[in-house]
Amino acid sequence: MPHHDVLVIGAGLAGMRAALAAAEGGATVGIISKVHPVRSHSNAAQGGINAALNPEDSWESHAFDTVKGSDYLGDQDAIEIMCKEAPEEILHLEHLGTTFHRNEQGKLGTRAFGGASAARTYYVADITGQAILHVLYEQLMKHEAVHRYEEFFVTVLVQDDSGHIAGAITRNLRDGAIELFNAKQVILATGGNGQIYNPTTNALVCTGDGIALAYRMGAPLMDMEMVQYHPTTLAGNGLLITEGARGEGAHLYNAEGERFMEKYAPSKMELASRDVVSRAEQTEIEEGRGFDGGTVHLDITKVPRKRIHEALREIVMIARDFAGVDITREPVPIKPGNHYVMGGIKTDTDGLTPLSGLYAAGETACVSVHGGNRLGANSLLDTLVFGRRAGVRAAREAKAMVMPSASRAQLEHEESAIEAIVGRERTGRRVSELHAELGRIMDTNVAVYRDEDGLREALEVVKRLQEESKTVATDDKGTIFNQDVLSVLELGFMLDNAEAIVMGAIERKESRGAQYRTDFPDRNDDDWLRHITVTQNGSDGELPELDYTEVTLTQWQPEARTY
Ligand code: FUM
Repeated sequence: MPHHDVLVIGAGLAGMRAALAAAEGGATVGIISKVHPVRSHSNAAQGGINAALNPEDSWESHAFDTVKGSDYLGDQDAIEIMCKEAPEEILHLEHLGTTFHRNEQGKLGTRAFGGASAARTYYVADITGQAILHVLYEQLMKHEAVHRYEEFFVTVLVQDDSGHIAGAITRNLRDGAIELFNAKQVILATGGNGQIYNPTTNALVCTGDGIALAYRMGAPLMDMEMVQYHPTTLAGNGLLITEGARGEGAHLYNAEGERFMEKYAPSKMELASRDVVSRAEQTEIEEGRGFDGGTVHLDITKVPRKRIHEALREIVMIARDFAGVDITREPVPIKPGNHYVMGGIKTDTDGLTPLSGLYAAGETACVSVHGGNRLGANSLLDTLVFGRRAGVRAAREAKAMVMPSASRAQLEHEESAIEAIVGRERTGRRVSELHAELGRIMDTNVAVYRDEDGLREALEVVKRLQEESKTVATDDKGTIFNQDVLSVLELGFMLDNAEAIVMGAIERKESRGAQYRTDFPDRNDDDWLRHITVTQNGSDGELPELDYTEVTLTQWQPEARTY
């Protein structure tokens, strides 16, 4: 049985940063990923990473922008930590070899991003996530204390008799073997859950695995209703067109030729926070001022061609290959699309969840630094700062304890569960059909605008799909890279995530950040300046339990939010 002081599940930026920090803290580390680490979804992060590194800028300004962006739902102690530690994290990455853009003076250069009062986004063209991911993977390979398990899928977490999380059970995707991993401390860093929506900017791997693994062990999920729609996703397939384009000077237009953001955010215009811009676009489309097919136009031709080719070359190719549009010459049709979940597993500022021995970091976690709406380029920062902090803390705790016992009984249980899935004969719909129905209802009823009826309908669909998923069969009966079995397990995880999102959205009877309830259009600080937590109650088929946690305010009282 493999055993490590610290087991990290997920090898995107948060997972790799956690693994490196834990190894540097003297722990032996196992890092498990269902894909090769450089294929993690962090790869898709385009625009950059925020830090107040310029002498004219300050961490306080970055923190205030983040608090305001969160619509005052972010915990201000956590936001302060993230913004104070940001500059050092950028310099660390640069020293490791990340090729951040430099300006004509040879200094690290920034671009403007939404909701920010200063240009503080550091970037590598529009492939920032990919650039950092490769640098961290090089570091990971260098460390003898880190053992990599690539293409292993975690099916369940295991506990010892005292309830301490003592490891995980995995399926080796290469040969289908089930293995028990024993660990003193476990860090979940499996990214987000965008695949429950269709379309989404998220990769196929973003099925909310870590969130569901923790939820099934009884960990509370927090702020799950806060799902971000990115303002500029490619019409037709949901691919990300970076906010960096607007940071470089691109404008949004409706079908009447109006630069409509003048009406919604006269001061920040296209660089208002994402929830504000997405709502503005959706309003234009719903009120009949969109283009055919329900889109608005992003006009990047405002940016000089040379600069587009230097700083936005990835989206030049995306728009050309997936929409047949040359963004240097013509506007590209875009619409708001699913991008990010602000909620996740509730943690403290060291990534520790309420379950002994279990941590979460990155999009899997809710620390909470993003509250109701995340600012662009704060997510890479979140993965690195809180990935590191979780790794440091986990290594420290691991040193002070002996290996907890992990029973093999659970292993046998998982083996039989997977055998049962493979053994089923198909009588009903395929996994892909259930997944498509989930994506449709979430994108229709749990999107930019929501109301009670639509949310209740979505909950009914999710509960029905949960039942149907219990008997869904696979066509592939083999053991080698059986993606069919994987998709059944992932569907279960996605449905758990969807349940928590919809429950939170029904409960929050106000509009704040990404949650806009047409039946409760105002923010209501008296009743709802609090986090909603969702916890599975343990009975199959029952609805989860809801609870509330106060928002931590340090120096910023809620104010009206205008851009
Ligand atoms: O638009 C973007 O480049 C996305 C960045 C982010 O979500 O942080």
